[in-house]
Amino acid sequence: MKTKHMTHKPLFTRWVMTAAAAALTLFVGAAGNCWAQKAEGVASTPQMGWNSWNKFACEIDERMIRETADAMVKSGLKDVGFQYVNIDDCWQGQRDADGNIQPDAKHFPSGMKALADYVHGKGLKLGIYSDAGATTCDGRPGSRGHEYQDARTYARWGIDYVKYDWCDTPGMNAEPAYTTMSDAIAKSGRPMVFSVCEWGMSKPWEWAGKVAHSWRTTPDIYNCFDCEYSPGFSTGLGVLRVLDKQAGLRKFAGPGHWNDMDMLEVGNGMSEDEDRAHLSIWAMMASPLILGNDVRSMSESTRRILTNRGVIAVNQDKLGVQALRVLADGPLEVYAKPLDGGQWALMFLNRSNQPADVHHDWKKQVLTDDLSKRSVDFKQTVYRWSDLWSKKTGDTSASLDARLAPHSVFMLLLSGPAKP
Ligand code: GLA
Repeated sequence: MKTKHMTHKPLFTRWVMTAAAAALTLFVGAAGNCWAQKAEGVASTPQMGWNSWNKFACEIDERMIRETADAMVKSGLKDVGFQYVNIDDCWQGQRDADGNIQPDAKHFPSGMKALADYVHGKGLKLGIYSDAGATTCDGRPGSRGHEYQDARTYARWGIDYVKYDWCDTPGMNAEPAYTTMSDAIAKSGRPMVFSVCEWGMSKPWEWAGKVAHSWRTTPDIYNCFDCEYSPGFSTGLGVLRVLDKQAGLRKFAGPGHWNDMDMLEVGNGMSEDEDRAHLSIWAMMASPLILGNDVRSMSESTRRILTNRGVIAVNQDKLGVQALRVLADGPLEVYAKPLDGGQWALMFLNRSNQPADVHHDWKKQVLTDDLSKRSVDFKQTVYRWSDLWSKKTGDTSASLDARLAPHSVFMLLLSGPAKP
């Protein structure tokens, strides 16, 4: 409770204090405004591309980057929307006498500008990787203390995408560190996608939407459907473990700011059913789709999975609403994603390594999404569906009765209402 003594200051003192507070507010406001804004429009749908890390780690050079760009065009990946060719860790050499970062001359002898020109000549875009600490996760020079200089260098080279990692950052806070790099990129004058990679530790979904286009939500993905790999200090999460970590995060995603579930492992050794389910889950969750396989030598079946236009269209839907789980029945789960134009995508996922029998009576559940304020009552309205993988079709007047293979999905596009 306030006392008279506490509230009654002399008028002049109160005026001085008020003026000082106003000046401080103005100053803080101005300082706040002098942060440049992240580029708009470069990730209004989740970004799509390829990244070197999952398959190649540090075994990278300019020739394989050029060959990857060639393969993205030839295989049809570019035609379905995969446009970024992203070089991950290990491209860096040392800084020169002025502190400018140089590419590793042995593996990138022509330099990054030449590589960007080549990639742009194919109608694609080039991405690069750095780290908020003094060194990257593989011990190369990071950007700490060189943020503005590095962003200007990237702009001069013609870089279109920056993934920014979080190794070697003891005592640092993620939000200001990523804000600095975001500002550096904005001030470089070249629009670039900015991808936060701090593994979800500081809840980046709560702050990164203002400064970045996506943020990793988990530790690194591990190439398996339902497992976890924890050698020593690091953890790798299989597909289902990454999915389960998205609980509660959908409200933070939307056009220009996405929950990143990490790069894809499609084509890296899981079964075809698992690869289809993996891509479908990432599509439903509106995650960036960044390929992690060797696209120069992928099998025809991998190529066909990755170029499924219907599944990609679900990911790239312009509403940008992340799916919600609408049903969990033992190993069987159903996810729903409201789409533009009144459509929905529905994914039936069998998490088990045994087949599951699906008996889905559409009329028993009103499909409701509080976030997008959309709902469908199938007692009132009949929707047509088509399975984006098997191409089977049907409508919601009859229940869906089918056997779902282990670790696989039905990925249904619901359009309607169907004509009577
Ligand atoms: C971290 C990131 C990975 C990859 C490596 C590179 O682990 O999460 O995606 O960039 O570093 O060293």
